[in-house]
Amino acid sequence: MKAWHWVLPAWLACVWFLPGLQGQGGAHAQGTSLDVLHWWTSSGERRAADQLSALLAPAGVQWNDAAIPGGGGMAAVKVLKSRVLMGDPPDVAQLIGSTLSEWADVGLVLPLNAVATRQKWPQVLFPTVLGVVSYQGEVIAAPLGIHRINTLLYNRRLFARLKLNPPHTWADFENVALKFSASGIKPLAWSDEAWQVATVFESLLLAEAGPVLYRQMIVQRHSAAWMDPRVEKALLRLRWLRSLSEAPVERVWTDSARELMNDSAAMMLMGDWASGELMAWGASPATDFACVVVPGTAHMHLYSVDTLAMLVNARHHEALQKKMAETISAMPAQLAYNRIKGSVPVRRDLSASALASLGSCARDSWETFASPTAARVPSLAHRMASDEATKDAVAQALWRYLSDPHMEAQEAQKRLASVIRSP
Ligand code: BGC
Repeated sequence: MKAWHWVLPAWLACVWFLPGLQGQGGAHAQGTSLDVLHWWTSSGERRAADQLSALLAPAGVQWNDAAIPGGGGMAAVKVLKSRVLMGDPPDVAQLIGSTLSEWADVGLVLPLNAVATRQKWPQVLFPTVLGVVSYQGEVIAAPLGIHRINTLLYNRRLFARLKLNPPHTWADFENVALKFSASGIKPLAWSDEAWQVATVFESLLLAEAGPVLYRQMIVQRHSAAWMDPRVEKALLRLRWLRSLSEAPVERVWTDSARELMNDSAAMMLMGDWASGELMAWGASPATDFACVVVPGTAHMHLYSVDTLAMLVNARHHEALQKKMAETISAMPAQLAYNRIKGSVPVRRDLSASALASLGSCARDSWETFASPTAARVPSLAHRMASDEATKDAVAQALWRYLSDPHMEAQEAQKRLASVIRSP
């Protein structure tokens, strides 16, 4: 059973039967602005959201910002739930992956089938992206961009100073990490925040397990698959990576990016939104930083697709909501937004010149996602493969494993296997 089917009656009561809200809806219905709840509050994320807002204005849609800070969106999702319970859902929300279907199940999401047909989404979107925004025959969100989680960013200056090449294998990684440590440079920027640990871990898991076992564990959620010895290896590597920082702390991901920016750390494992952040601070991919895929994950794309869902509420802004969906999925917005965000367009009809204009990380990301022979696998940490509760339970199990130096990797494996349930 879905975790919060209780929401529907409360929401219906608020939206349809409370006279005060009905009146408020009437007033808003004349307006041209849409309340957008999201968690894009770092510098790069903010720039990307502002770009969307600037592109929507000429189309007659005002972006009324309702941003909730907090990387990975934990706080934003909680605020969204409470706004729904209060009978005041925003018009638009950053709802992504599997969580979308939970909201569609309770009738909170406006179907966008007409927009999808008019804009030929079945022809122009990547099939994987169309799958993410489709549920029970309906299109339920507008796709914005594809992030690659298995990204390793590195500081070009520090690698040049030590005359090192970026690592392509784990043996390379261990070698460069030792050299940086020996020179008094932190090899890897690190944070113990649970969602960040989960983000790192799923790349390690993919590297060790490969796409077939990864899917058994993450998509089919076979508990038994989690007892495979390759999971133990990924857990041991997670602990080793953490040991590269003397005093690991829970801190926001932008603090780690700052270390990479100011030459305090040589590498960072993070979704490619970190490259958008570095660019927003003025760093250049040509001279300051670059990226490679996480060792062992070449030709694999561990994806998270960002989407905006149009919510059903008493303000009845359906025409504006559809206009927004249409504008943000069209090519001009796709190129402008994704260039800033660090992600790549959700469309497969990119011209050769548009592709060439993307940075090298983004080009590799888009080409891998488009390649028929590459493996595309969904991110668990970023809601592509499970409900909110399972994602959080996995992140907590990993966090406990790292916080308790006495816990054996095999014990953590057992705990992970027990929180994973078949969908
Ligand atoms: C979102 C990104 C966002 C990142 C960090 C991810 O879950 O998909 O858009 O930049 O969290 O906040």
